[in-house]
Amino acid sequence: MDWGMRNRLAGIIKPDTGRCVMLAIDHGYFQGPTTGLERPGEAVAPLLGYADALMLTRGVLRNVIDPGRRIPIVLRVSGGTSILRDDLSDEDITVSIEDAIRVNASALALSVFVGGPHEKETLTNLAKLCDEGQRYGIPVLAVTAVGKEMSRDARYLRLACRIAAELGAQIVKTYYCEGFEKVVGGCPVPIVIAGGKKIEERDALKLAYVAVSAGAVGVDMGRNIFQSKWPAQMIQAVRSIVHDGKTDAQAWEEFQHATGRS
Ligand code: R5P
Repeated sequence: MDWGMRNRLAGIIKPDTGRCVMLAIDHGYFQGPTTGLERPGEAVAPLLGYADALMLTRGVLRNVIDPGRRIPIVLRVSGGTSILRDDLSDEDITVSIEDAIRVNASALALSVFVGGPHEKETLTNLAKLCDEGQRYGIPVLAVTAVGKEMSRDARYLRLACRIAAELGAQIVKTYYCEGFEKVVGGCPVPIVIAGGKKIEERDALKLAYVAVSAGAVGVDMGRNIFQSKWPAQMIQAVRSIVHDGKTDAQAWEEFQHATGRS
């Protein structure tokens, strides 16, 4: 692997722990002003110090993130759909490689919809993006997006993750599921998990714990952080699990203490 690509990956997956806490705030690319991200600059300001990387679109990046802030950017480069459509899989590449370089992206993020109506287009877009990334030493993070009809079981997710890695993705983002070891075991590149819909903080910490215990290198979490009443305490609790080897019970205790509830 080229030096530049290794260097960018080392900015995202921390070499001292081999783990990563990525903060995802790219939801607006198809959801518009997602709850908790109506003012993304204000939402993320207290969180940036605890995130190893920030996943977002170039629009939010340019408008609300201080360029003097040294945080690796995982740039969302796929889109073209909205929640008004039934089929969210009809995505294309929405950012040129030149513009990704201009904003100093550390990685490029694109969704693939394995089994979806536009499976072929999203997978060939991933392959093209990986070619561009290879040309300039920029890693690609493939998101195994699930449409409304697609299940999230290990059989499906291991297929989708493996295909993403085979096509050239350097990191895969997917969902946690029962039998997650099989998903990790079948994927030759690091896996981070999405948090999914907002759940109780205690349950979200458990999710982070079982995912890293099953072999994920970390999380790319959004709603379970920025939609929490205590987002800064929540991301710190997630960090304790991902980087400090704490159990979810220990992180929960820290969280309760930090929020003044114990
Ligand atoms: C989904 O398409 C986006 O990439 C989100 O960033 C992703 O799902 C992670 O966010 P959350 O933890 O809110 O699921």
